[in-house]
Amino acid sequence: MVRILLLLLLTFSPAALAAREVVVYTGRSKALVEPLIQRFTAETGIRVRVRYGRDAQLLALLKAEGGRSPADLFWANAPGALLLAERRGLFAQLPKKVLARPSAFVPEKGDFVPLTLRLRTLAYNPQRVDPGILPRSILDLPRLAAFRGRIGWTPGYSSFQDFVSALRAERGEAAAYDWLRGMKALAPRAYTGNVAMLLDLASGRIDLALTNHYYVYQLKYGGPEGDFEGEDEEEESPPRGELPLALHPFAPGDPGNLALFTGAGVLKTARHPDAAQRLLAFLLAPEAQRFAAQRIHEYPVVAGVRTPAYMGPASRALTLAPRVNFAAFGDLEGTLRLLRSLDLF
Ligand SMILES: [Fe+2]
Repeated sequence: MVRILLLLLLTFSPAALAAREVVVYTGRSKALVEPLIQRFTAETGIRVRVRYGRDAQLLALLKAEGGRSPADLFWANAPGALLLAERRGLFAQLPKKVLARPSAFVPEKGDFVPLTLRLRTLAYNPQRVDPGILPRSILDLPRLAAFRGRIGWTPGYSSFQDFVSALRAERGEAAAYDWLRGMKALAPRAYTGNVAMLLDLASGRIDLALTNHYYVYQLKYGGPEGDFEGEDEEEESPPRGELPLALHPFAPGDPGNLALFTGAGVLKTARHPDAAQRLLAFLLAPEAQRFAAQRIHEYPVVAGVRTPAYMGPASRALTLAPRVNFAAFGDLEGTLRLLRSLDLF
């Protein structure tokens, strides 16, 4: 009897009830997050409260809230945001059993985990461009004088900026400056959104576009965006397989094939660290990994997870990506300064 009473007390004490929830701050889209957390709650009984925003907004909010933040988990779109959170000391150490799940991109400090992969790529219009003339390296793109005014890019977009950060770190400040200046001399069209850019590519307004791989799949095979774009801005693209859009892989290891991880970490100030770790483990399980690949066309970080046939396996995508030091993504401020010095941002 005493044991039953004790059990009841434990089950219904405020601490036990509080552990039945987890608070997530995420830059990821509702279209990805909502179905996943519904499934998580159904499996575990743990309620999830989500605050959506862009990565940078949520980082600013975490800074303003400090130790009073209700957030348990920060789930970001971009390595730049994760590295910034790490540098600010926001993340707690994760247990080995969580860190052991991803097959790559686990930081040395073990304070966050990658969840999906997105690849930088060059998209082209196969009705207008013979891929045989496209360069083996993104560094040679500025030499394509014939494409003056006909290349699209997104200098304000986080993945483009993460690419510039990686280029600075791996090839040096001067090489990054020269590449940007060379590209600028080709009078590229600057876009604020990747979808608008790729629709211009498909309609022949431009011939080439620097983008992330999943935007091409989103337009051709349908589906939503993986980034949170604002309360009213999330929409699903219908499949339009006929669109003339193709991906040009640069040579294996080229910086133009950069792999960017999305990911999440448990905050040091978390009130529900155990529930937050359980959510991370759930997001790294094959079912959630497969769902992300099907829903938003991002590659799994866990080995052996099936991807849709048009994506090819994650292992192939990873053989193309350059090996990049994590620290490469840590200096977003320096990248923004460089872009501003060239009037690109
Ligand atoms: Fe995106």
